[in-house]
Amino acid sequence: MNISKIGVLGAGQMGSGIAQVALMNGYKVVLNDISEAVLDQARGVIGKGLDILVRKEKITAQDKEGMISGLTTSTSVGQFSSCDFVVEAATEREELKLSLFRKLDEVVPSGGILATNTSSISITKIAAATGRPGNVVGMHFMNPVPLMKLVEVIRGLQTSQDTFDVTMSLSRKLGKEPVPSGDFPGFIANRILMPMINEAIYALMEGVGRPEDIDAIMKMGANHPMGPLALADLIGLDTCLEVMNVLQQGLGDSKYRPCPLLRKHVEAGYLGKKAGRGFYVYEKA
Ligand SMILES: NC(=O)c1ccc[n+]([C@@H]2O[C@H](COP(=O)([O-])OP(=O)(O)OC[C@H]3O[C@@H](n4cnc5c(N)ncnc54)[C@H](O)[C@@H]3O)[C@@H](O)[C@H]2O)c1
Repeated sequence: MNISKIGVLGAGQMGSGIAQVALMNGYKVVLNDISEAVLDQARGVIGKGLDILVRKEKITAQDKEGMISGLTTSTSVGQFSSCDFVVEAATEREELKLSLFRKLDEVVPSGGILATNTSSISITKIAAATGRPGNVVGMHFMNPVPLMKLVEVIRGLQTSQDTFDVTMSLSRKLGKEPVPSGDFPGFIANRILMPMINEAIYALMEGVGRPEDIDAIMKMGANHPMGPLALADLIGLDTCLEVMNVLQQGLGDSKYRPCPLLRKHVEAGYLGKKAGRGFYVYEKA
């Protein structure tokens, strides 16, 4: 399969990162969001990301202009009719993803691959919402996308071998290291990571430690590059809560119950770094 243009649905932290990496590796990109303001912000973020590479002399200013000229932004999903491969990176909510995949199925040419960057939602269920379940796959990038090497590639029950192979190969062409995972709630990364983050939030709620102490102990004690609360803020607390809900419902074990303090933060709109406040306070980007 010869892919030249990649569609990215959702232009938040992950979608803008995926678009940047695709542009950097010679692909044209159609980037979609419901919000024009988010699309403008994403253009800015991608421009700044490429500027860093120009400053480090990894690419020239001319390369940057070429990459940016390959980017189309749009609020209309109709633009995906020119894409053979679309990665969905919209908000982590099952009913939203199911309806987006129904729309993508109508618009993307038959034979095109529909990938989702979901952190936890069943690929099998998303695939079943489309008329091309064999062409649906999980492509789980890590945050921040330009820096993190891993892509978890998740095969739903219906995903064809061809779709899986094309997705593994595309991940490598994007400079990433794809690793396969089965389609169970949270896949591998978040099944292990999120309960740890959730436990850190319980420790905070129960007064076992202050955020900076919990994070310092896990950084120095477990040799993690970031503490669990800072990482939760980076991921987005709305996403963390959704993943815990999916783990609890999908695996049916009470050990996955989301911490009430995590719920409270999401109710308050303290969604982490992207909102300027989570367990820590950030300067607005
Ligand atoms: N944040 C992380 O660390 C991380 C890591 C891996 C995967 N993911 C997954 O990536 C996806 C996106 O996460 P994010 O952190 O970028 O969230 P985000 O909140 O930064 O961005 C989500 C974007 O989706 C857009 N959106 C919502 N409904 C839409 C619609 N109907 N059509 C088009 N766009 C729509 C929103 O406007 C927003 O810009 C989620 O599925 C999440 O689970 C997140």
